[in-house]
Amino acid sequence: MVKTFKIDSAKAKMVDKSTLLKVLSYIDSSEVRTPVLAINGEKVRANISLIGHNIRNCKAYYAVKANPDIGMIRLLNDTLLRDGSRCGFEISSMGELKVLMEAGVEPSRIICSNPVKTLAFLREAVDYGVTYYSYDSATEVDKLAVYAPGCNVYVRLSIPNEGSEWPLSKKFGVEVDDAVILLEKAVQKGLNPVGVTFHVGSQCNNIYNWNIALDKARLVFDMAGRKGIELSFLNIGGGYPVKYTKSVLAIDTIEKHINALIAERFGDDVSVAVEPGRAVVGDAGIMISSVTGKADRLDEKWLYIDVGVFNGLMESVGGIRYTYIVETTQHTGNKKSWVLAGPSCDSFDVIDKNVELNEPEVGDIVLVLSAGAYTISYASEFNGITIPKTVIL
Ligand SMILES: Cc1ncc(COP(=O)(O)O)c(C=O)c1O
Repeated sequence: MVKTFKIDSAKAKMVDKSTLLKVLSYIDSSEVRTPVLAINGEKVRANISLIGHNIRNCKAYYAVKANPDIGMIRLLNDTLLRDGSRCGFEISSMGELKVLMEAGVEPSRIICSNPVKTLAFLREAVDYGVTYYSYDSATEVDKLAVYAPGCNVYVRLSIPNEGSEWPLSKKFGVEVDDAVILLEKAVQKGLNPVGVTFHVGSQCNNIYNWNIALDKARLVFDMAGRKGIELSFLNIGGGYPVKYTKSVLAIDTIEKHINALIAERFGDDVSVAVEPGRAVVGDAGIMISSVTGKADRLDEKWLYIDVGVFNGLMESVGGIRYTYIVETTQHTGNKKSWVLAGPSCDSFDVIDKNVELNEPEVGDIVLVLSAGAYTISYASEFNGITIPKTVIL
């Protein structure tokens, strides 16, 4: 019997159709060895061209951590944006710097927004010519003063991450008063304080997080100005969401909102940076996996696939729920509820529960939609299981 991928209307709404079609024809045309992450290069280009477009005086810096595959970096580096420029890149570590160096990205298009950097990375970044760094502690000012003398610094603010599926607020960021103290300290240590940054939380579907963040940023600009420190750089971080199992705010809706807020609070004399990761690559990627086993345990039906929490779907344990499409001979009516688990021996390796799918056979393909971001970059080879390769279609 011929097997097909049954896509019901709820799933059809979650998927980027051009990406799904490309992946299905890739599966048809080649002997696919799973697990593999297939990326629709055209969708990545379309995403990066859109981001920052509706915010005045804004430059997008791709957050390399979302997917640092060298092919992805080359593709982004080669993409001409609507205004004829190329995107920038945000990095946090030596490994991310190395991949940009390998792709030949000039240092003038690289910023570092990790507030606490390793010394080895900092030395290498300075050596390469990177001049923009974030920070949120006095210790980091001392470090930057020694290893990156005179560099441009922007202070990370702490802001609420409510409504973001992957909150990032607790580890980094300071309140407004402390931010101003840190900017003064930067001046005393010979650094060049240029502005502020924040992160509303990844997969943010609460548009008001940007209101609070921009109010706080304005306060810092004002208070620093009164101390003679003129700021002009507003780095609004990442956070734009992609569709996993629910509809999300459209990027142009978010950006028009942010643009109006910035116009009200800052007027024209601010240069804006945005650091999207998930929204550039998330919905451009589909993880192609296959079924390795099935089991009935008490009253649960378990379905095992060759990608799991350790080798690609780590975000599933932190609240991200994916949409799955399964290869089957059955009709969409006969769905069963599955516990979906990965290939390792660890019982932590459970990707999702109550997943409604037609019953596949061992060897059948399971597609994990919107899997382009924070999958390969989080993956480990725990249990000797390989990390999926990335192919750009
Ligand atoms: C400093 C910084 N910038 C940008 C990003 C990218 O965020 P997102 O993928 O939500 O756009 C992150 C994500 O962790 C981050 O830590």
